[in-house]
Amino acid sequence: MPTKMKLTEMNLLRLFNSPDYENLLKDFTTQRFPKKNLIYSPFEEKNLIFIVKSGKLRVYLAYEDKEFTLAFLESGDIYSTHTRAFVQALDDTEILVCNTTKFQQQLSALPEVSLTMVKVLGDLLKNSISTIEGLVFKDVRRRLVEYLIGAAADRGRHTSDGTVVELGLSTEDIALLVGTTRQTISLILNDFIKADFLEKLNRRTLLIKNLSALKDWKDLL
Ligand code: HEM
Repeated sequence: MPTKMKLTEMNLLRLFNSPDYENLLKDFTTQRFPKKNLIYSPFEEKNLIFIVKSGKLRVYLAYEDKEFTLAFLESGDIYSTHTRAFVQALDDTEILVCNTTKFQQQLSALPEVSLTMVKVLGDLLKNSISTIEGLVFKDVRRRLVEYLIGAAADRGRHTSDGTVVELGLSTEDIALLVGTTRQTISLILNDFIKADFLEKLNRRTLLIKNLSALKDWKDLL
Protein backbone atom coordinates (compact mmCIF):
# COMPACT_ATOMS: atom_id res chain seq x y z
CA MET A 1 0.00 0.00 0.00
CA PRO A 2 1.41 3.41 -0.84
CA THR A 3 1.73 5.54 2.27
CA LYS A 4 0.99 8.76 0.44
CA MET A 5 -1.56 9.37 -2.27
CA LYS A 6 -0.19 11.12 -5.31
CA LEU A 7 -1.95 14.42 -5.97
CA THR A 8 -2.95 13.33 -9.45
CA GLU A 9 -4.58 10.16 -8.18
CA MET A 10 -6.93 12.06 -5.98
CA ASN A 11 -10.42 12.86 -7.11
CA LEU A 12 -12.58 15.02 -4.92
CA LEU A 13 -15.74 13.61 -6.44
CA ARG A 14 -14.81 10.11 -5.34
CA LEU A 15 -14.04 11.41 -1.85
CA PHE A 16 -17.33 13.25 -1.79
CA ASN A 17 -19.21 9.98 -2.06
CA SER A 18 -17.90 8.81 1.29
CA PRO A 19 -20.05 9.39 4.42
CA ASP A 20 -17.44 11.76 5.93
CA TYR A 21 -18.29 14.30 3.28
CA GLU A 22 -22.07 14.20 3.50
CA ASN A 23 -22.02 17.32 5.63
CA LEU A 24 -20.03 19.34 3.15
CA LEU A 25 -21.99 18.25 0.12
CA LYS A 26 -25.24 19.69 1.41
CA ASP A 27 -23.84 23.22 1.05
CA PHE A 28 -23.21 22.68 -2.67
CA THR A 29 -25.60 23.25 -5.55
CA THR A 30 -25.17 21.83 -9.03
CA GLN A 31 -24.97 24.17 -12.01
CA ARG A 32 -24.71 23.35 -15.70
CA PHE A 33 -23.14 25.44 -18.45
CA PRO A 34 -23.00 24.80 -22.18
CA LYS A 35 -19.76 24.57 -24.12
CA LYS A 36 -18.01 27.93 -24.81
CA ASN A 37 -19.95 29.74 -22.06
CA LEU A 38 -18.12 32.30 -19.93
CA ILE A 39 -18.94 31.11 -16.43
CA TYR A 40 -17.19 33.64 -14.19
CA SER A 41 -15.33 36.86 -14.79
CA PRO A 42 -13.03 38.78 -12.41
CA PHE A 43 -15.95 41.07 -11.59
CA GLU A 44 -18.07 38.30 -10.10
CA GLU A 45 -19.78 39.63 -7.00
CA LYS A 46 -20.36 36.35 -5.22
CA ASN A 47 -17.40 34.74 -3.49
CA LEU A 48 -17.78 31.08 -4.43
CA ILE A 49 -15.70 28.00 -4.76
CA PHE A 50 -16.65 25.26 -7.19
CA ILE A 51 -15.73 21.67 -7.89
CA VAL A 52 -15.88 20.35 -11.45
CA LYS A 53 -18.29 17.44 -11.71
CA SER A 54 -17.93 16.85 -15.45
CA GLY A 55 -16.66 18.63 -18.54
CA LYS A 56 -13.67 20.91 -18.92
CA LEU A 57 -12.99 24.54 -18.02
CA ARG A 58 -10.33 27.06 -18.90
CA VAL A 59 -8.94 29.64 -16.47
CA TYR A 60 -7.41 32.62 -18.25
CA LEU A 61 -6.39 36.25 -18.06
CA ALA A 62 -7.58 38.61 -20.76
CA TYR A 63 -6.40 42.10 -21.64
CA GLU A 64 -7.79 43.75 -24.76
CA ASP A 65 -7.01 41.28 -27.56
CA LYS A 66 -4.55 39.15 -25.54
CA GLU A 67 -5.33 36.03 -23.55
CA PHE A 68 -3.13 33.93 -21.31
CA THR A 69 -4.35 30.51 -20.24
CA LEU A 70 -3.44 29.77 -16.63
CA ALA A 71 -5.03 26.35 -16.08
CA PHE A 72 -7.46 23.77 -17.37
CA LEU A 73 -9.90 22.32 -14.85
CA GLU A 74 -11.28 18.82 -15.12
CA SER A 75 -13.54 16.53 -13.14
CA GLY A 76 -12.58 16.66 -9.44
CA ASP A 77 -10.67 19.95 -9.65
CA ILE A 78 -11.54 22.90 -7.45
CA TYR A 79 -11.43 26.64 -8.13
CA SER A 80 -12.85 29.93 -6.87
CA THR A 81 -14.49 33.11 -8.19
CA HIS A 82 -12.30 35.51 -6.16
CA THR A 83 -9.40 35.61 -8.60
CA ARG A 84 -8.50 37.98 -11.42
CA ALA A 85 -9.05 35.26 -13.99
CA PHE A 86 -11.94 34.44 -16.31
CA VAL A 87 -13.42 30.94 -16.26
CA GLN A 88 -14.88 29.49 -19.42
CA ALA A 89 -16.55 26.14 -20.14
CA LEU A 90 -14.71 24.39 -22.95
CA ASP A 91 -17.18 21.50 -23.01
CA ASP A 92 -20.68 21.13 -21.63
CA THR A 93 -19.86 21.38 -17.96
CA GLU A 94 -21.41 20.61 -14.61
CA ILE A 95 -20.03 22.16 -11.42
CA LEU A 96 -20.80 21.95 -7.71
CA VAL A 97 -20.89 25.46 -6.25
CA CYS A 98 -20.53 26.56 -2.62
CA ASN A 99 -20.12 29.84 -0.78
CA THR A 100 -16.43 30.32 0.11
CA THR A 101 -17.06 31.15 3.78
CA LYS A 102 -19.18 28.04 4.30
CA PHE A 103 -16.55 25.99 2.54
CA GLN A 104 -13.78 27.44 4.69
CA GLN A 105 -15.57 26.44 7.87
CA GLN A 106 -15.43 22.79 6.82
CA LEU A 107 -11.98 22.79 5.30
CA SER A 108 -9.85 21.96 8.33
CA ALA A 109 -11.72 18.68 8.79
CA LEU A 110 -11.04 17.66 5.18
CA PRO A 111 -7.31 17.45 4.40
CA GLU A 112 -7.88 15.90 0.95
CA VAL A 113 -9.65 19.03 -0.22
CA SER A 114 -6.63 21.16 0.64
CA LEU A 115 -4.44 18.79 -1.35
CA THR A 116 -6.65 19.23 -4.39
CA MET A 117 -6.40 22.99 -3.95
CA VAL A 118 -2.61 22.64 -3.92
CA LYS A 119 -2.71 20.62 -7.14
CA VAL A 120 -4.85 23.21 -8.96
CA LEU A 121 -2.87 26.15 -7.58
CA GLY A 122 0.36 24.38 -8.56
CA ASP A 123 -0.93 24.07 -12.11
CA LEU A 124 -1.89 27.70 -12.10
CA LEU A 125 1.54 28.68 -10.81
CA LYS A 126 3.32 26.57 -13.42
CA ASN A 127 1.45 28.19 -16.27
CA SER A 128 1.82 31.64 -14.74
CA ILE A 129 5.59 31.16 -14.55
CA SER A 130 5.66 30.08 -18.21
CA THR A 131 3.69 33.17 -19.18
CA ILE A 132 6.02 35.43 -17.21
CA GLU A 133 9.03 33.72 -18.76
CA GLY A 134 7.67 34.35 -22.23
CA LEU A 135 6.85 37.97 -21.52
CA VAL A 136 10.01 38.85 -19.68
CA PHE A 137 12.69 36.69 -21.22
CA LYS A 138 11.64 36.67 -24.85
CA ASP A 139 13.02 40.11 -25.49
CA VAL A 140 16.15 39.36 -23.50
CA ARG A 141 16.70 36.16 -25.49
CA ARG A 142 16.49 38.06 -28.72
CA ARG A 143 18.84 40.77 -27.51
CA LEU A 144 21.34 38.18 -26.28
CA VAL A 145 21.27 36.36 -29.64
CA GLU A 146 21.82 39.69 -31.37
CA TYR A 147 24.82 40.33 -29.15
CA LEU A 148 26.25 36.88 -29.98
CA ILE A 149 25.72 37.36 -33.72
CA GLY A 150 27.39 40.77 -33.48
CA ALA A 151 30.34 39.33 -31.55
CA ALA A 152 30.66 36.56 -34.14
CA ALA A 153 30.71 39.13 -36.96
CA ASP A 154 33.32 41.24 -35.12
CA ARG A 155 35.74 38.59 -33.95
CA GLY A 156 34.34 35.15 -34.76
CA ARG A 157 36.73 32.48 -35.98
CA HIS A 158 35.19 29.98 -38.39
CA THR A 159 36.20 26.36 -37.78
CA SER A 160 34.88 23.01 -38.98
CA ASP A 161 32.87 22.76 -35.70
CA GLY A 162 31.30 26.19 -36.05
CA THR A 163 32.15 29.78 -35.13
CA VAL A 164 34.39 30.34 -32.12
CA VAL A 165 33.55 33.62 -30.38
CA GLU A 166 35.59 35.35 -27.69
CA LEU A 167 32.87 37.05 -25.70
CA GLY A 168 35.20 39.83 -24.62
CA LEU A 169 32.85 40.70 -21.75
CA SER A 170 31.99 39.13 -18.44
CA THR A 171 28.49 37.72 -17.92
CA GLU A 172 27.74 40.81 -15.78
CA ASP A 173 28.71 43.16 -18.56
CA ILE A 174 26.69 41.24 -21.14
CA ALA A 175 23.74 41.35 -18.73
CA LEU A 176 24.04 45.12 -18.44
CA LEU A 177 24.27 45.41 -22.20
CA VAL A 178 21.09 43.50 -22.90
CA GLY A 179 19.30 44.93 -19.87
CA THR A 180 18.94 41.97 -17.57
CA THR A 181 20.68 40.15 -14.71
CA ARG A 182 23.71 37.86 -14.70
CA GLN A 183 21.48 35.01 -13.54
CA THR A 184 19.16 35.42 -16.50
CA ILE A 185 22.07 35.47 -18.95
CA SER A 186 23.41 32.22 -17.44
CA LEU A 187 19.93 30.69 -17.57
CA ILE A 188 19.46 31.56 -21.23
CA LEU A 189 22.98 30.52 -22.23
CA ASN A 190 22.40 27.17 -20.51
CA ASP A 191 19.14 26.80 -22.43
CA PHE A 192 21.01 27.47 -25.68
CA ILE A 193 23.67 24.94 -24.72
CA LYS A 194 21.01 22.33 -23.91
CA ALA A 195 19.32 23.04 -27.25
CA ASP A 196 22.73 22.40 -28.91
CA PHE A 197 23.03 25.88 -30.41
CA LEU A 198 26.14 26.62 -28.39
CA GLU A 199 29.03 24.99 -26.60
CA LYS A 200 31.03 26.60 -23.83
CA LEU A 201 34.75 26.25 -24.63
CA ASN A 202 35.85 28.16 -21.56
CA ARG A 203 34.57 30.93 -19.28
CA ARG A 204 34.76 33.61 -21.97
CA THR A 205 34.68 31.62 -25.20
CA LEU A 206 31.69 30.11 -26.92
CA LEU A 207 31.30 27.93 -29.97
CA ILE A 208 28.28 28.85 -32.08
CA LYS A 209 27.57 25.56 -33.77
CA ASN A 210 25.53 26.91 -36.67
CA LEU A 211 25.63 30.66 -37.08
CA SER A 212 23.14 30.88 -39.93
CA ALA A 213 20.65 28.70 -38.03
CA LEU A 214 21.05 31.05 -35.04
CA LYS A 215 20.36 34.04 -37.31
CA ASP A 216 17.24 32.37 -38.72
CA TRP A 217 16.12 31.46 -35.23
CA LYS A 218 16.58 35.02 -33.97
CA ASP A 219 13.92 36.22 -36.38
CA LEU A 220 11.45 33.84 -34.78
CA LEU A 221 12.04 35.19 -31.26
C1 HEM B 1 -11.27 28.13 1.97
C2 HEM B 1 -11.65 28.84 0.95
C3 HEM B 1 -10.88 30.02 0.47
C4 HEM B 1 -10.62 31.21 1.11
C5 HEM B 1 -11.06 31.62 2.49
C6 HEM B 1 -9.83 32.02 0.20
C7 HEM B 1 -9.39 33.30 0.47
C8 HEM B 1 -8.66 34.08 -0.38
C9 HEM B 1 -8.27 35.46 -0.14
C10 HEM B 1 -8.59 36.25 1.12
C11 HEM B 1 -7.57 35.90 -1.21
C12 HEM B 1 -6.96 37.29 -1.42
C13 HEM B 1 -7.96 38.09 -2.22
C14 HEM B 1 -7.52 39.50 -2.52
O1 HEM B 1 -6.33 39.79 -2.59
O2 HEM B 1 -8.43 40.33 -2.74
C15 HEM B 1 -7.48 34.78 -2.14
C16 HEM B 1 -6.85 34.84 -3.34
C17 HEM B 1 -6.80 33.80 -4.23
N1 HEM B 1 -7.38 32.56 -4.08
FE1 HEM B 1 -8.51 31.95 -2.51
N2 HEM B 1 -9.61 31.32 -0.94
C18 HEM B 1 -10.23 30.10 -0.82
C19 HEM B 1 -10.27 29.10 -1.74
C20 HEM B 1 -9.59 29.12 -2.95
C21 HEM B 1 -9.61 28.04 -3.91
C22 HEM B 1 -10.37 26.74 -3.78
C23 HEM B 1 -8.83 28.43 -4.95
C24 HEM B 1 -8.46 27.71 -6.20
C25 HEM B 1 -8.02 26.46 -6.17
C26 HEM B 1 -8.33 29.78 -4.65
C27 HEM B 1 -7.51 30.51 -5.47
C28 HEM B 1 -7.10 31.80 -5.20
C29 HEM B 1 -6.26 32.59 -6.11
C30 HEM B 1 -5.70 32.11 -7.45
C31 HEM B 1 -6.08 33.83 -5.52
C32 HEM B 1 -5.30 35.01 -6.08
C33 HEM B 1 -6.30 35.92 -6.76
C34 HEM B 1 -5.71 37.05 -7.59
O3 HEM B 1 -4.92 37.81 -7.05
O4 HEM B 1 -6.06 37.16 -8.78
N3 HEM B 1 -8.82 30.15 -3.42
N4 HEM B 1 -8.16 33.71 -1.62
